[in-house]
Amino acid sequence: MANRNTRVFPLIDERTVGFPIRPAPPPALSPSHMLQDALGRPLRDLRISVTDRCNFRCSYCMPKEVFDKDYRYLHHSALLSFEEITTLAREFVALGVQKIRLTGGEPLLRKNIETLIGQLAELRTPDGQALDITLTTNGALLAKKAASLRDAGLQRVTVSLDALDDTVFKAMNDVDFPVREVLKGIEAAQTAGLGPLKVNMVVKRGTNDQEILPMVRHFKGSGVALRFIEYMDVGATNGWRMNDVLPSHEVLELIRQQMPLVPLPSRQTGETAQRWGFAKANGSHDAAAGEVGFISSVTRAFCGDCNRARLSTEGQLYMCLFAGKGHDLRTLLRAGASPTELRQAIAGIWGDRNDRYSALRGLAPADASAPVRRVEMSYIGG
Ligand code: GTP
Ligand code: 5AD
Ligand code: SF4
Ligand code: SF4
Repeated sequence: MANRNTRVFPLIDERTVGFPIRPAPPPALSPSHMLQDALGRPLRDLRISVTDRCNFRCSYCMPKEVFDKDYRYLHHSALLSFEEITTLAREFVALGVQKIRLTGGEPLLRKNIETLIGQLAELRTPDGQALDITLTTNGALLAKKAASLRDAGLQRVTVSLDALDDTVFKAMNDVDFPVREVLKGIEAAQTAGLGPLKVNMVVKRGTNDQEILPMVRHFKGSGVALRFIEYMDVGATNGWRMNDVLPSHEVLELIRQQMPLVPLPSRQTGETAQRWGFAKANGSHDAAAGEVGFISSVTRAFCGDCNRARLSTEGQLYMCLFAGKGHDLRTLLRAGASPTELRQAIAGIWGDRNDRYSALRGLAPADASAPVRRVEMSYIGG
């Protein structure tokens, strides 16, 4: 249930005051000519937010008290057009990006999103490979859109679902949205071939932890990888408290008491989730039963190989989910910067990057009474 007593931190709207972009120095290149940031991390994953709006009001992301009828969403003219997004994405790809994730808010609310997907699907990496194009959605519009998304060139989707029980789910999405519609969306995505499908469940202690085992049982053997996300202190409006976090190791133990799991190796560097497979009686991984994943940003930070850049709806480039400010690529773009100038600007920003918020979080506990200067996840995407 959305906790009406939760204190809401003052929101500092940082949206339009990004860092000005300085003339770029030559990008830092590794011996293999790969762009690296100040901590030696390559750029691989670009997450593009296409709208700051959402049809849900999850208490941990867009609490109703803040995102009400008076909330000022971005004006349409502030949004990057599909052409502008594609122009920027092309330069990111030239610098090493191999995966593009569309996010929001709720990305399926952006009109004609299929057109953007079609444009992005035509991009190629420097060695001629197609991109991994995916999208994070709350699933509400997925049943209607799965086939057209696939036809446009989308390869897979990740669906957010925090509970199977309607009462719990409705309390979390806070707009009375029923579970069955999301399940229909997941089925439609599977039928359309938008896989391998992942389902993300944000776990809040005392809110939806009783839903962990039902969710595991429901998705076991379905071809869907269920991932548990530790509730994060992202943004400045969700009234985050450490007490609300259920650490991944506790979730893992809870599941292992009921069914045996075996650790699986990570597939790629920079992966957010630690993967565990359902085990056969002989202790080996039962591939048909599938796997679960744990995204433990709070208790086990994964900044060390973070290769993710985030482009906001209005063209601000963020170097970290927890950053207070972005870098204003839209102004550069609309001033007529050439592709080379855009590429140099992005390379310069990435070359300077030393963000590792989650890794540092544990070292210097935040002062809960101080206003937080952090961008909202609904604005920058998950
Ligand atoms: P794929 O590997 O492409 O399927 O995606 P992913 O594993 O990166 O997962 P996804 O995009 O579904 O992200 C899952 C969740 O992990 C997000 O909704 C966030 O809650 C969290 N997350 C993703 N990236 C980061 C990150 O860079 N830092 C932190 N702290 N959390 C992240
Ligand atoms: N903590 C963890 N994950 C969050 N998300 C949004 N807000 C939070 C938060 N405070 C993630 C959820 C959702 C995705 C869109 O963003 O995974 O599925
Ligand atoms: Fe919308 Fe996703 Fe945020 Fe929920 S978590 S309010 S579905 S953007
Ligand atoms: Fe990357 Fe920032 Fe997340 Fe660390 S906290 S993994 S640096 S986005």
